[in-house]
Amino acid sequence: MLALLLLLVSFSSAFALDKACPFKPTDMIFVLDGSGSEGEDNFKKQLNFVSNFTNQFEIGQNKTRVSLVTFATTVNNEFYLNRYYDNTTLLRAIGQAHYPNGETNTHLALDHVRLQSLLPSNGAERNVSKIVFVLTDGRSLEEEATKSAAMQLKKDPRVTVVAIGIGNAVDDNELRAIASDANHTIRVATFDALNSIKVELTQKTCDTCNDLSDVCFILDSSGSEGSGNFHQQLEFVKMVVNEFSIEGSSKTRICVVTFSTTSLGEIHLNSFNDKTALLQNIMKIPYRDGETMTNLGINHGFSELTNPPRQGANKVMILLTDGRSTEPDLTRQSASAVQRAGVDVFAIGIGPNVDSQELRFIATAPDHVFEVDRFHDLASIHQEVVNKICAKALITTTTTTTSTTTTRPTTTTTKPTTTTTKPTTTTTKPTTTTTKTTTKLTTTLPPTTTRAACGLKPADIVFVLDSSDSEGAENFKKQVDFVYNFAAQFSIGVNSVQFSVVTYSTDVQNIFYFNDHLTRQEVLQAIRNNITYLGQGTNTSGALQQVRENNLQTKHGARPNAQNFVIVITDGRSDDTNATRSEAHELQKIAQVLSVGIGPRVDSSELAAIASNHKVLTVDTFELLQTFKQQLTDLACQSGR
Ligand SMILES: *[C@@H]1O[C@H](CO)[C@@H](O)[C@H](O)[C@H]1NC(C)=O
Ligand SMILES: *[C@@H]1O[C@H](CO)[C@@H](O)[C@H](O)[C@H]1NC(C)=O
Ligand SMILES: *[C@@H]1O[C@H](CO)[C@@H](O)[C@H](O)[C@H]1NC(C)=O
Ligand SMILES: *[C@@H]1O[C@H](CO)[C@@H](O)[C@H](O)[C@H]1NC(C)=O
Ligand SMILES: *[C@@H]1O[C@H](CO)[C@@H](O)[C@H](O)[C@H]1NC(C)=O
Ligand SMILES: *[C@@H]1O[C@H](CO)[C@@H](O)[C@H](O)[C@H]1NC(C)=O
Ligand SMILES: *[C@@H]1O[C@H](CO)[C@@H](O)[C@H](O)[C@H]1NC(C)=O
Ligand SMILES: *[C@@H]1O[C@H](CO)[C@@H](O)[C@H](O)[C@H]1NC(C)=O
Repeated sequence: MLALLLLLVSFSSAFALDKACPFKPTDMIFVLDGSGSEGEDNFKKQLNFVSNFTNQFEIGQNKTRVSLVTFATTVNNEFYLNRYYDNTTLLRAIGQAHYPNGETNTHLALDHVRLQSLLPSNGAERNVSKIVFVLTDGRSLEEEATKSAAMQLKKDPRVTVVAIGIGNAVDDNELRAIASDANHTIRVATFDALNSIKVELTQKTCDTCNDLSDVCFILDSSGSEGSGNFHQQLEFVKMVVNEFSIEGSSKTRICVVTFSTTSLGEIHLNSFNDKTALLQNIMKIPYRDGETMTNLGINHGFSELTNPPRQGANKVMILLTDGRSTEPDLTRQSASAVQRAGVDVFAIGIGPNVDSQELRFIATAPDHVFEVDRFHDLASIHQEVVNKICAKALITTTTTTTSTTTTRPTTTTTKPTTTTTKPTTTTTKPTTTTTKTTTKLTTTLPPTTTRAACGLKPADIVFVLDSSDSEGAENFKKQVDFVYNFAAQFSIGVNSVQFSVVTYSTDVQNIFYFNDHLTRQEVLQAIRNNITYLGQGTNTSGALQQVRENNLQTKHGARPNAQNFVIVITDGRSDDTNATRSEAHELQKIAQVLSVGIGPRVDSSELAAIASNHKVLTVDTFELLQTFKQQLTDLACQSGR
């Protein structure tokens, strides 16, 4: 509950000034399960969630539009996208939706969305992304029909389906079949926990791409363009920039260079930390006239990207031109140098006077060349360019920060203390130290806005990481990234959540105890810097024993009044499964144990034995580990009840 309050407090204040993704108009269609299994109270909680979520966006005819559909035995269309264009009437209508009660005919609702809600005449005429949120608490009555209805719906390229499963009765396979992909499948433990996914969901809604990229636009400002056409280039830049998350230290940075007879850096990578200001200044860039010294533009962009380079960032150059360069040889030389340095270069030619061969030479790959007939057509390719940048970013950056939000990080540091007066029951534990730690944070840490304290009962969480040779160093690093991102969500300290990490192969290695590092910053640094890959065997039993006998003992900082959690992550089976099972049994007496299995080699029966109440999570690949973050958080937050 406290977690929820913290989220709400930080959200309501952050968005008072600035709504979520203000530049990205979206059509959002909510499809709510109103079947008999949930009851009216829980149905109301879904409505609350929809209100809270949509209230983050600016509602309007040319902004975000919202539609609401409920279903049980039949489908009720509460309202289409074109019914409410202001937040007051919209929120009122959401609150008044009635509980249908009945069976779970999910397929009928999905068909309704495809055949009715998405019709132009029902408000879906804009060429903007359409996000369908399907909330359900159980299995659908007709599984095959549901899968096929979902498949039909997803054929529409404008549509993204997010499937949100609530509670234990949800069928993971079905959820996956409904959602656009695994990234858009979310599970929460209870109806009350719905609001905890707001941040994650907002991010999915606002950003198609959330990776570390430095993107430099090189714009032709030569005499052949004319200022009207130059302005169309700026519109294109604006459209692409809109698709990225600009705020925060680990997001996309943008620079803009123009060239004609000379080159000019109009916007530098670190000029703006704020999308509004960035876009306003992009639109003010003047047209200059002159020759087409493409080579100077490329060189200039390269120096913007590399002086100094940002560690781990995907470097991208997007060159726009309507003609051939004045110095073709120099242009080719410059382009080669940039490509050799690992920059991903796109070349976009506009109109009949471009030199296709030159474009092909400038771009890093054939699919990075675009040619459009008219300046006006630039809009039609922007999404494809964005998708390609994102695809590259996902491959090249190993540590993606999943730490979310479009809020300004500065506003919330003092907020947590205000909620401490709210506790309803029991231990009047002061959570006041959060303010102390947040003020010490350096800018390299993830934003602090989304930190959950996970209930009134403080949590002591031990991560147990498999470091055996079956993993490989690369996969091990992904585990460590996951632990980092997981821990970064929390307020860490003796009065909130504490972390400890153990790794194991043949030997067991304690990385740090609860009381080795007292601040969030130190804990995150220790996760990042002090965990090394071991190789060799899989001594799971030894690791569990170490946790029980050492990490969870008070002399190492474990708190008697805390809820203990042990999260075991492995990709294989232990060397001695009998010993592992019996150690797990002992450990479960003093802690909630969660087990996460990765890949095809896991022994599900052993994993189930390790976990308390069979809380096993499995994923196919190490990459997918990130998709569990929210689920683990929810489990950790719910278990103490
Ligand atoms: C947000 O949710 C809370 C409880 O879940 C509710 O009391 C509140 O009215 C909601 N806010 C909005 C704007 O709907
Ligand atoms: C929305 O855009 C349309 C077309 O550009 C315009 O006619 C209409 O006035 C706009 N509506 C509002 C409320 O701004
Ligand atoms: C609607 O939005 C306006 C402007 O963002 C805000 O002042 C107002 O409080 C909102 N109304 C409701 C009911 O949330
Ligand atoms: C998750 O999203 C990324 C980029 O949006 C995509 O490349 C990846 O394939 C997705 N993962 C799954 C399992 O769909
Ligand atoms: C809608 O946008 C997409 C991608 O941005 C584009 O491919 C398509 O041509 C556009 N359609 C219309 C009718 O403008
Ligand atoms: C990393 O481990 C070394 C050796 O155990 C220790 O001296 C150092 O303080 C640790 N650093 C961090 C950031 O925990
Ligand atoms: C496993 O770890 C325990 C605890 O560190 C240790 O006592 C034991 O010898 C290890 N087992 C093997 C086979 O190395
Ligand atoms: C493990 O336990 C099972 C059943 O308790 C037993 O049959 C088996 O012999 C044991 N294996 C080892 C290696 O001790």
